[in-house]
Amino acid sequence: MDIFEAIKNRRSIRHYKPDPVDDKTVEKVLEAAHWAPSWGNQQCWRFVVVRDPRTRSAVADTLAKVSVDSEWVENAAALSIRHAPVLIVVCAEKSGAGRSGDGALLNEKGEYWYMFDIALAMQNLTLAAHALGLGTVIVGGFDVARVEKIIGVTGDCTAVTMTPLGVPAGKGQVSPRKKLSEVIFMEKF
Ligand SMILES: Cc1cc2nc3c(=O)[nH]c(=O)nc-3n(C[C@H](O)[C@H](O)[C@H](O)COP(=O)(O)O)c2cc1C
Repeated sequence: MDIFEAIKNRRSIRHYKPDPVDDKTVEKVLEAAHWAPSWGNQQCWRFVVVRDPRTRSAVADTLAKVSVDSEWVENAAALSIRHAPVLIVVCAEKSGAGRSGDGALLNEKGEYWYMFDIALAMQNLTLAAHALGLGTVIVGGFDVARVEKIIGVTGDCTAVTMTPLGVPAGKGQVSPRKKLSEVIFMEKF
C-alpha cells in the first residue's frame, strides 16, 4: 500500500469482527512499531499483547465512561477492546528519553519525551495494521494505575496507551481535518 494512501485512509476503528488475528500478523505489526525513531535510539516502548478475554474485559472496565441520557455507559472504545481478538497495551520505560548519557534532562520539555517515542511507535503500528487490512484505535482515556496492575507493569515502566487489533466490522467514520491553511505558517508563526 502506498504510504500516502495509508496515512489518509487509516481510520480509528471501534467495531470489530470476532475473526482471529494470528501471532505472525501481530508480530509484523509490532515490528513496524519497533522500527519507529526514538530518543537516543533507546526504544523505550514495551508492547503487551493481550488475547485473554478476561484480561481484555478487566482493561475495558477501566476506560472512561460517557454520559448518555444522564447515565454513565461504556464508550465505543471499551466495547471494541472486548470484541477485538487482540489488545496491545503500549508501555514505556520512563527514565531514558529526554536525558543525556549522564541522566541530566536536556531541555525544558522535561521528562516526558517517552510520550513522544510511544506516539511514533503507535503511528507506525496503526499504519502497518491498516496496510494489513486490520483496524486499531488509539486509546488514552483509561485508569493507568488499574491497567498497570491488571497487566503487571513493573519497574520504571508505565502504561501509556493501548489499541484493540482486529478485522474491522465496517469502515471507520471520517473525522474531518482543519483546513491546511489553518495549521501551516510560512516563515513565521
Ligand atoms: C493520544 C490519543 C488518545 C486517544 N484516545 C482515545 C480514546 O480514549 N478513546 C477513543 O475512542 N479514541 C481515542 N483516540 C482516537 C481519536 O479520537 C481519533 O484519532 C481522532 O478522532 C481522529 O480520527 P481518526 O483516527 O479516525 O482519523 C485517541 C487518539 C490519540 C492520538
